Amino acid sequence: MKILGIESSCDETAAAVVEDGRHVLSNVVATQVEEHKLYGGVVPEIASRRHSEAIVGVVRQAMEDAHVGYSDLDAIAVTYAPGLIGALLVGVNFAKGLSFSTGLPLVPVHHLRSHIAANYLTNPELKPPFLCLVVSGGHTHIVNVESYTKLSVIGQTRDDAAGEAFDKAARAMGMPYPGGIHLDKLAESGDEKAFRLPHPSVEGAPYDFSFSGLKTFVINLLHNADQKGEVVSTADLAASYRKAVVDCLVRNVMKAADDTGAQTIVIAGGVSANRLLRRRLEQECERTGRRFFRPELCYCGDNAAMVGAQGYYEFQSGHVAGLDLNACAQMDIQEG
Ligand code: KG4
Ligand code: ZN
Repeated sequence: MKILGIESSCDETAAAVVEDGRHVLSNVVATQVEEHKLYGGVVPEIASRRHSEAIVGVVRQAMEDAHVGYSDLDAIAVTYAPGLIGALLVGVNFAKGLSFSTGLPLVPVHHLRSHIAANYLTNPELKPPFLCLVVSGGHTHIVNVESYTKLSVIGQTRDDAAGEAFDKAARAMGMPYPGGIHLDKLAESGDEKAFRLPHPSVEGAPYDFSFSGLKTFVINLLHNADQKGEVVSTADLAASYRKAVVDCLVRNVMKAADDTGAQTIVIAGGVSANRLLRRRLEQECERTGRRFFRPELCYCGDNAAMVGAQGYYEFQSGHVAGLDLNACAQMDIQEG
């Protein structure tokens, strides 16, 4: 079964053709990051406009690269929630038009479910149930993946998402947007023990996260040093900060695995590209006899191959929409 996936929830316009939820026949991503960099973050109006400009070419390219025509497809899957509403609407309306003109079924896909499904593309042996740490620019969730389409959140951030915490600290250290990847790179050459940083936890909610205090601590540390004319080693600070964020992520997900008896741990979302997070979870899973899976780096950030992957399982479970499908800025993963 071949599915065309379409993604436009934030600042990448993407289309892909995926077979049986597991095999990528094409994967096209047009990123707007260079333009948003000028403003230090995503500007929603610009994002919507660029999606409108890019979507026809991106979908056409994905079809060409996969060497398929619309009569070879079985369905069109599209990200409909959560995300920037104007950005989501571009993909949803395009997919609706395509569904109307081709007669192909329309499959709505939840963005975080698709991030999790990115793992099915490169780990053929991975099947639910498993526990997934979903870490992106906007979300930090521990998700119990009971089946391909039955998912429940057992822990989440109370304030900043992990990606947001990385980006804001990186910005304070003078790195361009989105700073998570730059901070990660610089941290490789720093001393992670150079700064003692807080490791916040949420009282009475061991699977929940709180990163805003840690982020503010680092921003204040930089301001104070600046006022005193002291030079801070950004490599050491990046390494110490990355360790603190990753310590919190690993601590909570391993506690959740212990409590729920989960034998398989998976990571997903843009921050799952983080080198330390990948190394640490791999070590922890090896130490505790668990299986660990992570997406290939090219499927960690936003893409449409993951939409085609999750779309396959949603379609199998009968999740199809009519032409009255709307985009939603917010939606729980359970509802997806
Ligand atoms: O999943 P994603 O592409 O978009 C959202 O759905 O939010 O995630 C983007 C986030 C950004 O905050 C970015 O800085 C972060 O993922 N990120 C990283 C790394 N690569 C991307 N954070 C830490 N280390 C990385 N290597
Ligand atoms: Zn995302």
